[in-house]
Amino acid sequence: MKPIAQTIDLVKYYGKEGNLVKAVDHTSVTIERGKFTAIVGRSGSGKSTLLHLLGGLDRPDSGKVFIDGDDIYAMKENELARFRRQKVGFVFQDYNLLNSLNVWENIVLPIGLDNRKVEKDFIMDIVESIGLKEKLHTRADKLSGGQMQRTAIARALAARPAVILADEPTGNLDSRTELEVMALLKKCVSHYGQSLIMITHDETIAQMADTVCVIEDGKVVAAE
Ligand SMILES: Nc1ncnc2c1ncn2[C@@H]1O[C@H](COP(=O)(O)OP(=O)(O)OP(=O)(O)O)[C@@H](O)[C@H]1O
Ligand SMILES: [Mg+2]
Repeated sequence: MKPIAQTIDLVKYYGKEGNLVKAVDHTSVTIERGKFTAIVGRSGSGKSTLLHLLGGLDRPDSGKVFIDGDDIYAMKENELARFRRQKVGFVFQDYNLLNSLNVWENIVLPIGLDNRKVEKDFIMDIVESIGLKEKLHTRADKLSGGQMQRTAIARALAARPAVILADEPTGNLDSRTELEVMALLKKCVSHYGQSLIMITHDETIAQMADTVCVIEDGKVVAAE
C-alpha cells in the first residue's frame, strides 16, 4: 500500500543569516496509511511547521511532500487549496468553530462550501459515535471544551479526508475529557480506517499511537 504521507528532503527555514531557525531541516519521513502516527519532540523542535507543510498550509523552501501519492507543492495555489479542502482534515487546539452556528451546521459547513453532497447517514453515524447527538442544535458557543473539540473532530471526519492532521488537539482539555477525545480519535483509525497524524507533548497519548516519530531540531531522529 502506498504511504498516506511522505516528505523528501524537506526544508523550511525562518529568519536570515546569523539568526536562521532551521524549523524543518532536510527531513525525509514516510507515514503509513490507516495508522495513528504521533509526532513528539521538545517545544520549538519543528513539529507544527512539519505538520503545516504536510497539510499544504505553507510552502517549503525545498523538498517535496506527497499526500496520498500527490506531489502537493507541484500544484498551483488554487489547486492546492482544493486539495486541502478535499483531502486533509485539520484539528487544532483552538477548535476554530463558528460560534453563531450550531453543531450540525459547523460539521457540514466545509462540505457545503465545497459544493459536495452532505452524506447524512454517514455523518449521523459519526455524530452518534462521537456522542454529539443530543447537541446537534446547540450553538457552538454554548458547548463545553470537550464538546467543541468533538465537534471539530466530527467536522474533520465528515468531509472524508484522506488524512487527519491534529496539533495537540487535547491541549486545552482536562484529563478525563482528553481521554474521551483520544478514545474517539483512536476509534476513527480503527473503525473508519482513518489515517491520523497527531502532535502531542503527552507521553500517555504517544503510547496510544501505532508509530511515534521523534523530532529534534527540525530533523526526524527516530520513528518506532
Ligand atoms: N512564522 C514563523 N516565523 C519565524 N519563526 C518561526 C515561525 N514559525 C515557527 N518559527 C520557529 O521555528 C521553530 C519551530 O517552530 P514550531 O512551531 O514548528 O515548533 P513546535 O515543535 O511546534 O513547538 P511547540 O511544541 O512549542 O508547539 C521555532 O524556533 C519557532 O520559533
Ligand atoms: Mg507546535
